[in-house]
This record gives sequence, structure tokens and C-alpha cells, in this order.
Amino acid sequence: MSLSFDLAPGTPSTPPAEIARLLYGDPGFGRLFSDHMAVAAWSDGRGWHDDRLQAHAPFQFAPGEAVLHYAQEIFEGLKAYRRDDDSIWLFRPEANARRFNQSADRLALPRLPEEDFLRAVRQVVTVDAAWAPAAAEQTLYLRPFMFASESFLGVRAAKEVVFAVIAGPAGSYFPRGPEPVDIWVTTTYSRSGAGGTGAAKCGGNYASSLLAERQAHDHDCQQVLFTDAASHEWVEELGGMNLCLVTAAGQLVTPPLDGAILAGVTRDSILQLAPRHGLEPVERPVSLTELWSGVKSGSIVEAFACGTAAVITAVRSFRQQFEDGIDEVRLPQANGRQTQALRRRLIDIQWGRSADDFGWTTRVV
Ligand SMILES: Cc1ncc(COP(=O)(O)O)c(C=O)c1O
Repeated sequence: MSLSFDLAPGTPSTPPAEIARLLYGDPGFGRLFSDHMAVAAWSDGRGWHDDRLQAHAPFQFAPGEAVLHYAQEIFEGLKAYRRDDDSIWLFRPEANARRFNQSADRLALPRLPEEDFLRAVRQVVTVDAAWAPAAAEQTLYLRPFMFASESFLGVRAAKEVVFAVIAGPAGSYFPRGPEPVDIWVTTTYSRSGAGGTGAAKCGGNYASSLLAERQAHDHDCQQVLFTDAASHEWVEELGGMNLCLVTAAGQLVTPPLDGAILAGVTRDSILQLAPRHGLEPVERPVSLTELWSGVKSGSIVEAFACGTAAVITAVRSFRQQFEDGIDEVRLPQANGRQTQALRRRLIDIQWGRSADDFGWTTRVV
């Protein structure tokens, strides 16, 4: 039986008037939350149950809940876009529903039927439509997640789990907006290794990235680029985004999905859009040696970070600690022509200003 995520009795559905004031400013990213959330429970034997749409409110936690100790948790991130005619749309939510279950498999969490994931997302967008900003490039960010809620300290897959979707208005992920970013390359820390959880969207991957992220900030960089755990020679991805390179030979190059990196929905969309911009999409390993020599020689002309939160954000430089000190290479074109054109194309599709030939967008409100 599918889940309906209906509004729980007695839950007000109209947001307070003062939120309108907040929505005129820059909401930043991940700071503000809307009024409602979708919740469902799962237990071994009973399956999914107790689905509801309720007020956004704290969970009650038992100190022994498994997620607090063993990080059995997964999440997703997608956006709802308010268009000029006030309709509200999602971008490829089925891809997020599918990836959520791939992450669930890897973290030994129960699968949530894709239609239930989509229903929960749509219900939150519908009830909190007033929270979807109208300002340019602002969205209602949606955060579906699932965690082990069983209070039990043995190390095994939990027999009780909670699924929820929260939301909040979001502006630019980077405080400086779409301005090009500087990237710190870490060859000390790894995000994932062979057989690890790199391809899953689980909290643990992000926890293990934070120290490198802090080092990046200490070196005035906004993101960290991870390399493979075995040799630290192969480029993987950024802390919260995939990396794409544009070559002088007209290729759009990005590292392959080898199990260590997240299969970004934005990455996949860009690979499909690339030929329309005269770029040949190429998924292949990229070494740090190639990255540095390519940027220096000009065979790599542009680079950008891509992901739901950052959309497409140009890279200005890569910085790295070498034995004899820190070195930096600057892209020949920071925020170059192809980066700008792909960004424009993607956001025009998302906001319904450009034809959606791929059928990527779906209306909710
Ligand atoms: C580690 C990591 N890589 C890549 C991405 C990009 O994925 P998507 O385009 O699906 O948002 C994200 C963002 O969610 C991420 O956290």
C-alpha cells in the first residue's frame, strides 16, 4: 500500500505572514526551514507506516538511537523552482528517488518505493508553496533523509527507521554567489576508498570530509577536491559537488562513476547537454599531473563545480601543498564562455525559460 503523507489533524497549513519578509532578502543556504515536514516510520516486520505531513518540529531522540552512534543515515537534496507564472516545478526528482534507494541499499537501510519518496516531496512543496521564493535564482530546497532510530547499541542494521522530508528557501550556496571559486586539493585526506560509501549520499561521507574542508578554508578556498585514497593521484570530486573540465580540444571531461564518487544529477544533466554546446562529453580518469599541466599549458581552459546546491560554479584556481610549499594554478578562463553557457542553459530549463526536450521538469503547484 502506498503512503499518502496527508496533513495530520490539527496541523495549520497556512504559513505565518512574517515569512514573506524573509523571502525578499537573501535566505542564504540551509539556514531557514519551512513550516511542515513529511515523516514516515519503518520497522522490521511492519514495513513503512505512520506517514504524515506535520508541523516542522524537533524529533524526540533516545540517547541510544543507532544513528547517533553508527551514522546509519542517508539523504538527498533537490529543489523546487517558482516560475514567472507562480507555478512550482521539480527538476528530475525521479533521479533523486532512485539514488536514495541506491544509498539505502549501501547503508543497509530499507528501500522506500520511489512513488512514496516523490509523494512526500510533492506534499511538502504543496503545503509550503508560500515558502518557495520568487526572487531570481532562489528556490525551495528539499532535504529528504532516512536514519536508524532504533535504540540499540549492537552493531547491525537497525530494525527501526525514520524517513522525513524538510524544506527551506535557499539562495546561493556560496556566500559570494556565482563568483568563481578557488579549490584546495587534498592529498592527505580521503572521502572514500575502494568498496567504501563514496557513491552513496550518506552523512558519514560528509563528516569525513570536514577536516579537509576546514583546511581548504584556511587556505582561502571555498571547496576541497578529493583524490583517490590509494595513490592520491586521481581526481575524484569536491566535498559537495562534482568537477567538470572544459578542454581546448572541445571536450567536457569529468571523472567516471567508479564507485568512489556521487553520481550527481547535475553532472548527468550536463553530460547530456554538452553536445548542444559543441562539447564532446567524456567520462574518464583525470590525474592530478594532467590537471596541473593541462591548466598551465592551456589545454584545460575552464573548470566548474556542479551540483544541485551550487548549480554550476566556475573554478578560478586550484591550490595544493607540495613538499616545497603551496602552489596554485589559475584557469585560463575563470567563468569562461562554456561554463556560463551551460549554467544559463541548465537554469533556463529549470525555470521553464528554455525548452525541456529531455522531460526533466515536472509541475507540482
Ligand atoms: C559529494 C557530492 N558530489 C556531487 C554532488 C552533486 O550531486 P547532485 O548534482 O545530484 O546534486 C553532491 C551534491 O549533492 C555531493 O554532495
